[in-house]
Amino acid sequence: MALAGSAIGLGNIWRFPYMVGQHGGAAFIIIYILCSIIIALPVFFAESLLGKTTGSDTIGALKKTVPDSPLMAEGGLAVLAAFVIVSFYSVVGGWSFDYFIRSCTGSFQGLQITEASQTFKAMTDSVWQPLGSLAVFLSLSGIIVAAGVDKGIGLFSKVMMPVLFIMILLIVIRSVSLPGASAGIEYLVKPDFSKIDGRAIADALGQSFFSLSLGVGCVLTYSSYMRKEENVFYSGIWTAIFDTVFAVLAGFAIMPAVFAAGLPAAAGPSLVYETLPVIFSQMGPVVPFLFFLAILIAALTSSISMMEVCVAWMVDQKKFRRGTATLCICCLAFILGCACALFPKVFNTCDFLTSNVFMMIGSFVFVIVVAWKLPKVDVRTQFTNYGTSKAAKVAFPVVWFSIKWLCPIAIVAIAITNLL
Ligand code: PFF
Repeated sequence: MALAGSAIGLGNIWRFPYMVGQHGGAAFIIIYILCSIIIALPVFFAESLLGKTTGSDTIGALKKTVPDSPLMAEGGLAVLAAFVIVSFYSVVGGWSFDYFIRSCTGSFQGLQITEASQTFKAMTDSVWQPLGSLAVFLSLSGIIVAAGVDKGIGLFSKVMMPVLFIMILLIVIRSVSLPGASAGIEYLVKPDFSKIDGRAIADALGQSFFSLSLGVGCVLTYSSYMRKEENVFYSGIWTAIFDTVFAVLAGFAIMPAVFAAGLPAAAGPSLVYETLPVIFSQMGPVVPFLFFLAILIAALTSSISMMEVCVAWMVDQKKFRRGTATLCICCLAFILGCACALFPKVFNTCDFLTSNVFMMIGSFVFVIVVAWKLPKVDVRTQFTNYGTSKAAKVAFPVVWFSIKWLCPIAIVAIAITNLL
């Protein structure tokens, strides 16, 4: 549940639907699912295996597997990447907190599109409002992380993930039953492959990495807490299934409503914060409340996973107490978060650097370490849980081929496309 919580976040509810909108609907969803199965899932397995076998944080895991190798530098990069992501991600998390409070006070009722744009602009342009929401969001994440792996992160994820699914299902039911929603449903199920080009494929792969939280040591750190009998294969498959189903559900929660209201599907990043409040405001007070609460919970279960990468490093490697480590990370993330909230250029640079550079380098190093530095028999033994998992045994040759060849080649190709 914690891995699913990390994976399901703003990437699913905010990023995925607007990317689908920009890249022509169903065709993008198909490419995204293929990228997730063929490339992202094997990367997930590699990162998870490293965590589970070593039982360490990112830097510790690389110290144990590739000591004295330049690949070890990735450990530091991963912690840095997790820190940078949690900083800018919490800014958007803060917006969802702000919108959640607005939905509680009924301030979306009767909203028009121009007012919605003005509300969003006024919020992001103001100095204190986003900083206040950022501070609240980081504090909420910090409290959960400081409470510990079992009683904080584990418990929160176990309770909140099912709640999240129920909420999004309720919104889907409401959205697809609106008059005029069928155009939106058609958009999500009828593929138009003429819209698919190299950029769309690169975006689909980048999104699948972001969505599965790959390349920053998150999956590695969480997997280091797995019990011996737990299975990397099944946890990977379930995380990918939950994550993809949730992203598609978010698409069905949003697009039919957007089409029914006659608003643009390709609105981009502002879709959730400008277009949706207008649509939801016409559905009574409950839908906006449920939707923004869902975004807030999804953002929290993801931000705690990034924070945990940094906290685990401080606790394991630097011998800090958990509470002190969490406080330090929250304060530092608040400083970088302020810069992201106040200067869009800083926000965009952090987003670009982490999604297109750091996550790619991290994923590349994790697959190289597993496929090229560790003995194949050891990887097989761990992957199949000492030969006890039949399904993992059957899947291993395909997974191994993907980790060894497909993933590194695809990551390099995508990184080049992104930087061009
Ligand atoms: N997977 C999260 C989402 O889709 O919102 C984002 C994320 C979480 C990225 C954790 C990276 C990470 F380490």
